[in-house]
Amino acid sequence: MIFETHCHLDDTRFAADRQEVLARLRQQGITALVNVGYDLESSARSVELAQEHAEIYAAVGVHPHDASGISEEGWKQLEHLAASPKVVALGEMGLDYYRDLSPRPIQQQAFSFQLELANKLNLPVIIHNRDAHQDTIRLLQTKVPDRGGVLHCFSGSWETAKQALDMGLYISFAGPLTYRNAVNLQQVAARVPLDRLLVETDSPYLTPEPLRGRRNEPAYVRYVVEKLAEIRSMGVEELAVRTAENGARLFGVQLIETT
Ligand code: NI
Repeated sequence: MIFETHCHLDDTRFAADRQEVLARLRQQGITALVNVGYDLESSARSVELAQEHAEIYAAVGVHPHDASGISEEGWKQLEHLAASPKVVALGEMGLDYYRDLSPRPIQQQAFSFQLELANKLNLPVIIHNRDAHQDTIRLLQTKVPDRGGVLHCFSGSWETAKQALDMGLYISFAGPLTYRNAVNLQQVAARVPLDRLLVETDSPYLTPEPLRGRRNEPAYVRYVVEKLAEIRSMGVEELAVRTAENGARLFGVQLIETT
């Protein structure tokens, strides 16, 4: 049993072989996955995928890269999408000061707006944070998510993790945890309480070792699970089950055992 909590299966890189990708994740015992929107179109596609496939759940949101492209009307559309069946979270939302594809004040406005919307709709949040640790924590502290949330593809220090944990948030690890130079990140992963850990791929991006360089896909979440189990000196199956239970709790979904 594995809960893959963050991927972008609606990406065009899966257009040619999405059915095969889904078949491979079933073979790997992946019980559930959250397909995460990053703008209005991908959020709508996430909702569609969730309606077509029992194991897929949807998150709808606007990524900081896309924050400047959203109109007043667009935000209404997002709220409308969030009411669709199988939408389990709002996101991805947050701040990206590494690429700065939207001006920072616009990123902050879009993040704050979505934090408020999540509380209004009683949904947890999926947070993207790249090189914006202080502002991410500061904005979260001004609008603490009532239903909780996750710092996805965590890349910060233990201090940042601790501040998020103190707010009741979960910490999710992706492919970068498996990289050879990820010593600091692995030390953080060893310290996060077991009941707050999640796993993900963020596919098609961030392919884990030993497959780095290829397109990533949800089935490869197994490499993240294996690395995390090694770091924490736990059995792979136990780590998989515990993180799946965490995902089920955060997103309010019932996990179905596949055979
Ligand atoms: Ni993502």
